[in-house]
Amino acid sequence: MQSHRIAVMASGKGSNLQVILQAMAEGRCPVEVGLVIADKPRAGALDIARQAGVPQVRFLDPKGHADRTAFDMACADLIERTNCQWIVLAGYMRILSSAFVQRFAGRIINIHPSLLPSFAGAHAVEDALAYGVKVSGCTVHLVDEVLDGGPILAQAVVPVHDDDTRDSLHARIQQQEHRLYPETLARIVEHGFSVEGRTVHWRT
Ligand code: GRF
Repeated sequence: MQSHRIAVMASGKGSNLQVILQAMAEGRCPVEVGLVIADKPRAGALDIARQAGVPQVRFLDPKGHADRTAFDMACADLIERTNCQWIVLAGYMRILSSAFVQRFAGRIINIHPSLLPSFAGAHAVEDALAYGVKVSGCTVHLVDEVLDGGPILAQAVVPVHDDDTRDSLHARIQQQEHRLYPETLARIVEHGFSVEGRTVHWRT
């Protein structure tokens, strides 16, 4: 049987980590967060993880490594030492090196604040507003070597209002993220999936 232990990588406030930990505590998401890694010393995710009693909570400093691959390999070694089966990106703002993606192929999951393939990249919410779309949302997807480009596991849609700002639209998207991410992780470990081309088939 596969382990349900996950490593969460984050750079920011960590609200997605928080809802995963909550869902876990309430028995709605049968994963175990074994490790949280942040690449920013002040990431809110670090405090959230410590307060929740995650066994390994680590800030790793990218500046302390020769290049992106070296930093990613330090993260990867830590993930393997803690026996984490899944790597869950929750607001992790670094592009992962090919070496990292290949080492954990099919086991890295990300959440992105748009309906992919629209608006990939770091400014998804602003880009969707600037384009004038009437709906947006969020996407949970597998990570491959194309930025925000891996097979889609789940999506949720939100309306875009005429008077939306980046913050108001992002807040509406985050409400859906907070439901969708724990639900999708639960589905992954309880049912599993296979991938055919770009299409994810859920097992029932
Ligand atoms: C989320 O909107 C997510 O889609 C994006 O980064 C944000 C992270 O938010 N990848 P938080 O740190 O989990 O609150």
